[in-house]
Amino acid sequence: MTIKALAFDAYGTIFDVHSVIKLCDTLFPGQGMALSQQWRAKQLEYTWLRSLMNAYVDFWQVTESGLVFACKALGLALSDDSRKQLMNAYLHLTPYPDVPPALQRLGHLPLVILSNGAPKMLHDVVDNAGLSAHFKHLLSVDTVKIYKPHRSVYELAPMTFGVKANEIGFVSSNCWDVMGATHFGFRTFWINRGKQPLDELGFQPYRIVSSLAEVADEAAK
Ligand code: LAC
Repeated sequence: MTIKALAFDAYGTIFDVHSVIKLCDTLFPGQGMALSQQWRAKQLEYTWLRSLMNAYVDFWQVTESGLVFACKALGLALSDDSRKQLMNAYLHLTPYPDVPPALQRLGHLPLVILSNGAPKMLHDVVDNAGLSAHFKHLLSVDTVKIYKPHRSVYELAPMTFGVKANEIGFVSSNCWDVMGATHFGFRTFWINRGKQPLDELGFQPYRIVSSLAEVADEAAK
């Protein structure tokens, strides 16, 4: 069966969330890597906690809460100005280098982003990276007010494309997201850029690849 459409995760897959390290390091010399890592880890943890608690707030707020916590945990004094600068950096994340050429090659398929991001965040980060023309829709969890890997998030893609889940390729570098999407029934591509082991959850992705170029190769078949 051929793939009829593709849905992409945003943060960590299209955009390098750790492109904030440079600014983190400028504001807090020597702490850039640690801050970026703790920030991302807490951001994700809060999405899972809030989903379990049925206490949704949007990804902008979750991202800011993760930043505030990470700074406190590392003993860094976060001024209002630094907080604003770091949050603004989230709207200017850099796409991974393999992304723009692969999106170009995938132009024959309908492409969407399916992300935790709040609608305005997604719009701005995609636009600032010059990638808007590639995507038909930027689908946000904000429609269903719960985060990945809840299946009601993944359901947004078949509803939007009007095709079955197993005709949709879902692309993510976040292994936990790939697990949720595989369980849901998508044809999943795990971009394992970091050469990590597969999560021990018992779900096998359709393909494990090292870059988006390999997804474009597969979709061209
Ligand atoms: C997203 C998170 C998983 O973009 O990074 O949905």
